[in-house]
Amino acid sequence: MTEVGAPREERIRRTLDHLRNDTTDDFGHLTWFRPEEFRDTDIAKLERDRIFGRVPSIVAHGSEIPKAGDFFTLQMPRNNVIVVRQRDGSVKTLVNVCRHRGAMVEKEEKGRCRLFSCPYHRWSYDTDGSLRTITRENTFGETDQSDMGLISLPTEERHGFIWVVDDADATIDVADWLGPDMDAIMSGYDIESLTCFRAEGFDEPVNWKLMQDAFLDGYHIQYAHPNSAAKHIHTNVMAFEDFGRHCRFVTPRKSIDRWIEEDPGSRSLANDVTESHLVGPNSTLLRQPDHFQLLTFRPHPTDPQRCRMEMRVMVPPVEKTEFSQEKWERRWNKNWEILLAVLHAEDFPLLRDSQVGLTSASAGRMVLGQNEVANQVFRRETQKLLDQN
Ligand code: FES
Ligand SMILES: [Fe+2]
Repeated sequence: MTEVGAPREERIRRTLDHLRNDTTDDFGHLTWFRPEEFRDTDIAKLERDRIFGRVPSIVAHGSEIPKAGDFFTLQMPRNNVIVVRQRDGSVKTLVNVCRHRGAMVEKEEKGRCRLFSCPYHRWSYDTDGSLRTITRENTFGETDQSDMGLISLPTEERHGFIWVVDDADATIDVADWLGPDMDAIMSGYDIESLTCFRAEGFDEPVNWKLMQDAFLDGYHIQYAHPNSAAKHIHTNVMAFEDFGRHCRFVTPRKSIDRWIEEDPGSRSLANDVTESHLVGPNSTLLRQPDHFQLLTFRPHPTDPQRCRMEMRVMVPPVEKTEFSQEKWERRWNKNWEILLAVLHAEDFPLLRDSQVGLTSASAGRMVLGQNEVANQVFRRETQKLLDQN
């Protein structure tokens, strides 16, 4: 894998120095913010339009719709959509609204089909979105059917993921959005060779940024997760690289502790860290020694105090391992259940309460510390997109 930025083992050793000195990487300044950012409907509308309507965000791993006609439906911040694999192997995102009188064409969460057929008056559409039949056409009157297909959104598959810009009039260029560093990093991970073991969405009464923030945060581990994550992961010790729209950071696991006193020499400490990435505008990608985990946060289409979080785990497909199907499933199931338990028991309750708190009229101004580098980068980049007319 070609290295981007400082070599990985060097970055890992930087976390060792931090552990020795009780320090962490530093953003350089505090940032003050207002609780309105997490509840204001005008700000939420700007976020939907200027962030999700303009830049690519990940909606799935390609292996979730492997065959032609495989689809899933999804509420994006601006459009309800169907994401569907085409006969030529590419992926299209279609706005899930019938061009006759606006019924929702596809109600299923996922499936495989040869056409989409509207439940209201049974017009049907090809999986590429083109209008195929108008029922009782002889009575309906003349129409230009070539212009009455489902509207499509800019979509690209890159680095194993499917990316969408949530505006039919936009264009998409994922490599350009990622920039040379993040694009090279993701390309080196070869995530397209993995398979998505499981994906699940959670609709929570929490602003999407509040939620995303919690999964970029290395400062809360010991306090919010004393009996789970904190047993394995160090709190408030991170080595960062800021790539502008995106960032990457190494967090030491507690298995690294013997090397605090002893010199590890040139041995690899890769198994003693978790490497996280803020993949702008709304995902956290976690690189574990043997798999990847992607967390995605999407605002609700109207309510700033709601969002959908999606978690997916990408693992080596069973045929590329020495495991039997059963053992492979048992192993990744166990991993999944542990992740789920921490989310439901620890993060979600805390975040729901934060959202309630942030609606208090006199909440006061709030602050991000200079140790909260990933949160600082996330906020800086979100603001930058909002500021672009
Ligand atoms: S609204 Fe879809 S066929 Fe009438
Ligand atoms: Fe957490």
